[in-house]
Amino acid sequence: MRVKIGGVTSLQLDRVRRSFPSGPTVIEDLNLKVDAGEFLAILGPSGCGKSTLLRMIARLLPPDSGTITTSPQHPRTAFVFQDAHLLPWRTVLDNAALPLELQGVGREQRYAAARAELAQVGLADAEQRYPAQLSGGMRMRVSLARALATSPSLLLMDEPFAALDEITRFNLEVQLRELWCARGMTVLFVTHSISEAAFLSNRAIVLARRGCAVILDRPIDLPAERTHALRSDPRLGAHIQELFAAMEEE
Ligand SMILES: Nc1ncnc2c1ncn2[C@@H]1O[C@H](COP(=O)(O)OP(=O)(O)OP(=O)(O)O)[C@@H](O)[C@H]1O
Ligand SMILES: [Mg+2]
Repeated sequence: MRVKIGGVTSLQLDRVRRSFPSGPTVIEDLNLKVDAGEFLAILGPSGCGKSTLLRMIARLLPPDSGTITTSPQHPRTAFVFQDAHLLPWRTVLDNAALPLELQGVGREQRYAAARAELAQVGLADAEQRYPAQLSGGMRMRVSLARALATSPSLLLMDEPFAALDEITRFNLEVQLRELWCARGMTVLFVTHSISEAAFLSNRAIVLARRGCAVILDRPIDLPAERTHALRSDPRLGAHIQELFAAMEEE
């Protein structure tokens, strides 16, 4: 059953443009609509503007022109990056509780929330460890728990599993998908891995090298539950092929 923990967010980008000083226009008149509760995978060549797009959606960077509208207007947003960005002098628990601490949430409450999320990602036994004592996969799970502790309705992920070995990545993909099924948040997931995009998402888009236009936009109609068995399913293979062809054209 779906437990709506943080709610969901829908968003709409209308004619969004963004450039940087002395560079060409990175994002040119981008239109994109994302429904509440979608798991959207975003693919595109290196440098096409994927991270810029996520930063604008997170309001970390304003567009030069165009609009980004979300419903609700101020969604609870969490960002997960390729690097886990943990504070080395803090324990796993104190890292996972950090955003709540910054929000002024009391000690008991923020530890309870952080503990619950650490348990969700299988790290209940590691809460007193320090980041240096963790594997890369564990660090990423702390990063994920830290993001989830704020009950985001919009989760933005920028190549979160790119630096991990394949087995760890595969396991985290299954875990993330389970979390999404259970919580019903909207997820935007940037990746360079075509198979990861197809395995995880309900919809995948491919962005153009120049101007960042959407050149392919496909629903990924696979069973809601994504287990490792799906990896050899021909239906997944068909989606991968279609995304690959669009990427190759770019
Ligand atoms: N702060 C900045 N100042 C100047 N140029 C920038 C800045 N941020 C991004 N760019 C430029 O904007 C373009 C898009 O960058 P962005 O990081 O969004 O691409 P990306 O699609 O995420 O690439 P990758 O797949 O390699 O992560 C690049 O040409 C980059 O050099
Ligand atoms: Mg990037």
